[in-house]
Amino acid sequence: MIFLLGAGGYIGRAFQRHLVRHGVAHRAIRRTELDYSEPSRLLAALRAERPAFLINASGYTGKPNVDGCEDHRAECLFANAVLPARIAEACASAGVPWGHLSSGCIYQGARPDGSGFTELDAPNFCFRAGPCSFYSGTKALGEELLAGYPDVYLWRLRIPFDHVDNPRNYLSKLLRYARLLEARNSITHLADFVPAALSFATLRPAPGIYNFTNPGAVTTREVAAMLAAAGLRRTPFVFFADEAEFLREAVRAPRSNCVLDTAKLLAAGISLPPIHDALRSALARWEPDSPTP
Ligand SMILES: NC(=O)c1ccc[n+]([C@@H]2O[C@H](COP(=O)([O-])OP(=O)(O)OC[C@H]3O[C@@H](n4cnc5c(N)ncnc54)[C@H](OP(=O)(O)O)[C@@H]3O)[C@@H](O)[C@H]2O)c1
Repeated sequence: MIFLLGAGGYIGRAFQRHLVRHGVAHRAIRRTELDYSEPSRLLAALRAERPAFLINASGYTGKPNVDGCEDHRAECLFANAVLPARIAEACASAGVPWGHLSSGCIYQGARPDGSGFTELDAPNFCFRAGPCSFYSGTKALGEELLAGYPDVYLWRLRIPFDHVDNPRNYLSKLLRYARLLEARNSITHLADFVPAALSFATLRPAPGIYNFTNPGAVTTREVAAMLAAAGLRRTPFVFFADEAEFLREAVRAPRSNCVLDTAKLLAAGISLPPIHDALRSALARWEPDSPTP
């Protein structure tokens, strides 16, 4: 049986949909039903129900986007750093292995030779190596707090997208933004990520950090061209002249744009389709949002 924390969130709902569809025994937990931020309550539930694995899909992402984290720093710090550490303590006490939704948005750019950052590279878009957004700073801090705990996987996904139109879906965002920033990014197809993350519960590779994007990287212009070719956008996309204009006119906090290396995930026996194939697959099945089961 799997415990899913943060089941009401965007990614939590994707996990829940998959678990329901595949008949996997699970308990989808929302704070309103069980306040898992209270260590004693979470530990009691873990000891009583003895899940084989726990997924932490909770966190503070900001509304309507990460700029919202700049105004709610205490809550953001709590949900992205303190809460995962509390979950780590409870899982270690109860002997439950678990996976944490971290983020690759703790890096900026690529390695000097253009290749992706590996799990061994120190984050360069965080409180220790700024500038960064408050959101990214707290996600990097969350990783630091989990270092050394046994049996925890830190899954670094980035810029999730899927075939279901949703304001949180990267593809939907590109369709709705008035202007786009040209950048090169490694990104994560939720339909690939969710089953692959769940496979950690049975494959049980070495604990630690895993970059969890589809292999490769893609530019905003490439994705925009694919959206247009799929017939999802009839008017031309408009781009910011450069990042300086984007930062000046569109956002408050700087944004991470980066490339991640996924060799460690592959070496663990987990293979995701290359990013361009994943995008084609999502666009070929594009559909309106559907209610949570
Ligand atoms: N979406 C992205 O672009 C992205 C990219 C990389 C990584 N991630 C990470 O993936 C995780 C889930 O992201 P998401 O996009 O699904 O976020 P979301 O839609 O905002 O959902 C987050 C969930 O976290 C739970 N939560 C627990 N404590 C909270 C608090 N103090 N404030 C707000 N929410 C709290 C809530 O679930 P319940 O009320 O149901 O318990 C909430 O629905 C986060 O850790 C995020 O950093 C997201």
